[in-house]
Amino acid sequence: MANILIIYSTTDGHTIEICQEIQSILETQANIVELISIDNASDVDLAKYDKLVIGASIRYGKHNKSVLDFINRQQEILENMPSAFFSVNVVARKANKDRPDNNPYMKKFLQQVLWKPAELEVFAGKIDYQKYRFFDRQMIRLIMYITKGPTDPKSVNDFTNWEQVRNFAGVINKM
Ligand SMILES: Cc1cc2nc3c(=O)[nH]c(=O)nc-3n(C[C@H](O)[C@H](O)[C@H](O)COP(=O)(O)O)c2cc1C
Repeated sequence: MANILIIYSTTDGHTIEICQEIQSILETQANIVELISIDNASDVDLAKYDKLVIGASIRYGKHNKSVLDFINRQQEILENMPSAFFSVNVVARKANKDRPDNNPYMKKFLQQVLWKPAELEVFAGKIDYQKYRFFDRQMIRLIMYITKGPTDPKSVNDFTNWEQVRNFAGVINKM
C-alpha cells in the first residue's frame, strides 16, 4: 500500500479521465491516491507521498509550461522518490510514435528536464471537435487532414488505448 499523488495538466479534460482510470485501478490495489491539478500543485508537500505521477497533454506542440516549471523547482525531491511521467497527444495514435522512445513530445520533454522518472508512458489522446473554439477546430482539422486523421467537425475520436492505461496503473503499483 502506498500514498500516491497524481498531478495532471489538461486543457479539455482528457488527461484527467486517464488519471481517474489510473486512480481507480490503484485504489483497488489498496493504495491511497490523490489527484490534483498542476494549477494547485505549487503548495503541496511532496514529502507526504510515497510515489508521484505527473500526466500532461500536448497543445500546439507543447506541454504546459507550468509542468516544466514545477518539475524544475521540485527536481531534488522528485529524484528521491519513485515517480512516473506520461504525455497525452494525438501524434501517439501513429504506430511509430506511440512509445516514450519514439514519441517526439516525450523525447523533447526529456531534454527539457533533469528529472529521470522511473517510468514513462505515452497515450494517444482524444479529438472532440465540438468542444473546441472555431480557430482551434479548424487548426486541428487541418492537422488531421495532413496526417490522414478524422476531419468531420461533429466527430468525437477517442484514440486512447484504455488497456494500455490500465497496464500503466499496474506498473505504477509495482514501482
Ligand atoms: C488546440 C489543440 C491543439 C493540439 N495540438 C496538438 C499537437 O500539437 N500535437 C498533438 O499530438 N496533439 C495535439 N492536440 C491533441 C491533444 O493533445 C489531445 O486532444 C489530448 O487528448 C488533449 O488532452 P487534454 O484534454 O487533457 O488537454 C491538440 C488539441 C487541441 C484541442
